[in-house]
Amino acid sequence: MLVDNFNRSFPYLRLSITEVCNFSCQYCLPNGYQKTGKEHFLRIDEINRLVDAFVELGVWKIRLTGGEPTIRKDFTEIAQMIASKPQVETMAFTTNGYRLKDRAQEWYDAGLNAINISIDSLNAKNFHQITGHNRMQEVRDGIDKALEVGFEKVKINVVLLKGVNDDEVDQYLAYVKDTPVSVRYIELMQTGDNLTYFNKFHLSADHVKDQLVDRGWVENIRTPGAGPAVNFTHSDYAGSVGLIAPYSKDFCTACNRLRITSTGDLRLCLFGNVGIPLRHMLQDDDQKESLKAAIRKQLEFKASSHFLAMGDTGIMTNLSSTGG
Ligand code: 5AD
Ligand code: SF4
Repeated sequence: MLVDNFNRSFPYLRLSITEVCNFSCQYCLPNGYQKTGKEHFLRIDEINRLVDAFVELGVWKIRLTGGEPTIRKDFTEIAQMIASKPQVETMAFTTNGYRLKDRAQEWYDAGLNAINISIDSLNAKNFHQITGHNRMQEVRDGIDKALEVGFEKVKINVVLLKGVNDDEVDQYLAYVKDTPVSVRYIELMQTGDNLTYFNKFHLSADHVKDQLVDRGWVENIRTPGAGPAVNFTHSDYAGSVGLIAPYSKDFCTACNRLRITSTGDLRLCLFGNVGIPLRHMLQDDDQKESLKAAIRKQLEFKASSHFLAMGDTGIMTNLSSTGG
């Protein structure tokens, strides 16, 4: 197992397979994805070698992210290839949900078993305003379909935005009353691109926490190995609510993940200042041992925490470039 100098272990790999996204969320890609001409994302054979090295280092949970990962024509093939490895217990992906309704069955059959869907508002107009797409109902239908075909771990990501969706807590609670999903409120994070937006719309997750506590929700005891989310449950509700508050004290002590960008750089932290290129070590099966040694070595450099409080967002310009 990969362990760093602060005794954190890393069973979880977040693998970005594209930077391209078809949505234009205000906090991420307000003008939509702009082609750079350098869209040479990891090929499936490179992904295969990368994943083989990481599973041998003890990784058992892999998430495909982007951009919008399902935009890739070979998305299902990639998922299937990874899910078929016996060491991979949780095969997850994050999506904006735009094709979920039609593809949920195909993806489930490919071996994907956990899914995170972004839905920043349950109000259609608001959703349209935030994402640039009038597709709230379509995404909700996709969630219903995912549950219907058998996905058991379904999470709904909601980026908390001051004055935009902070009055919707009761709507989300009504949603999880009978729907067995976990709504995850994510505090807006500052990135290289979004400082003005961040200053205007960032709101502490305590705003949601206070409302949950008022309504009788209980904070769960943290299980060992769980990630940085703080989870709340209520006996009258089928679903649960999680809070992801990167600006809170101790967030980073629960860090359990490493990231790979769509072009094969290892990122030790979402907000770190370095990307370690691994792609040149993904070209031949013979390179596996040196790749594993390089990953182990880099872990010694993982910092105890990010420096967001000092306004240092690292090299990340937006989440679509690093992998959300
Ligand atoms: N702050 C918080 N969350 C963000 N996401 C993208 N950019 C940001 C940001 N700046 C979210 C997306 C998606 C998840 C992968 O990350 O909305 O739910
Ligand atoms: Fe881990 Fe970095 Fe995220 Fe902190 S900010 S939880 S160190 S990846």
